[in-house]
Amino acid sequence: MKVALIGLGSVGRGVAEMIHKKNPGITITGIADSKSGLISNGGIDIAAVLENKRVNGICGEVGISATDVIKKAEYDVLIEVTPTNALTGEPALDYIRAALERKKHVVTSNKGPIALAYHELSALAKKNGVAFRYEATVGGAIPIMHTIEDGLSGNEILAIYGVLNGTCNYIITRMAAEGLTYEQALMEARELGYAEADPTYDVKGIDAAIKLVILVNTIWGNGIKLSDVDMTGIDLLTPDALRLAEEGDSTIRLIAEAIPRKKILRVSPRLIEKGHPLVLEGTLNALTLETDMAKEITLIGKGAGSIETASAILGDILYICNHYGKRA
Ligand code: HSE
Repeated sequence: MKVALIGLGSVGRGVAEMIHKKNPGITITGIADSKSGLISNGGIDIAAVLENKRVNGICGEVGISATDVIKKAEYDVLIEVTPTNALTGEPALDYIRAALERKKHVVTSNKGPIALAYHELSALAKKNGVAFRYEATVGGAIPIMHTIEDGLSGNEILAIYGVLNGTCNYIITRMAAEGLTYEQALMEARELGYAEADPTYDVKGIDAAIKLVILVNTIWGNGIKLSDVDMTGIDLLTPDALRLAEEGDSTIRLIAEAIPRKKILRVSPRLIEKGHPLVLEGTLNALTLETDMAKEITLIGKGAGSIETASAILGDILYICNHYGKRA
């Protein structure tokens, strides 16, 4: 399988490193970052590109853009891992459209385009007979979409509840365990590299709400938008409120939930018993799926990180290899 990789930040580098290290029958024929690009239809020397990026800050030639790679390289799958823009989805949205229009499969970790244009992009993929996969957008390494579409495919999903933002979970954990202020805990989370470029997206619940929109549209296909989510963040959470909660057997977590039978679609800090499966420490994420046959299934794992996110992306590429039958 030949792939083009667009975006060489922490996730893109993780994907390139893992393809290089694991040699899973995937050849990179095009690569681009925000400043440069490279096309080699016989296969790119990944180690040399990563070294060039590390030393010179670029991955290829300055005269070659991401759009050039998408429109001109020979590949089967576009891996789109550029930074998220939740307001416009661009430039990722145009990259994805261009690849789908060329009848190329697309794998992305980019939340913006999926939250904004899921139906359009799915329809475009279907029309062109290609796959459009986005496992890495929700829950990092946790195989949520694979579980929904494969393992639970005979089930009706009745409700979902999750901890979908590692930054908020980290902040609450640190405030409770060490008595840190909200500001101190947020600074730590940013230093760890988990927060979004603009951490308001994390702490105001927007990132978790975007992930909830992606999940709800995937599961129920009802075309909801970010503005449909009732959203409260953790930015007003005080150490006193947390201490009060923790005096009993409870604590507070930022919970994203969708319960269609009760018309609930919200992200908010919730009082929750300490033994509950969604009470996780640090940057972990979790999702409980309430179903008719399997009853409750809770998936827990790393919600972000370079190699962890690469795990989800590789899973999507290999899914395409297995279902569309092509390895380099
Ligand atoms: N900022 C996000 C989080 C990163 O903290 O969960 C992963 O989407």
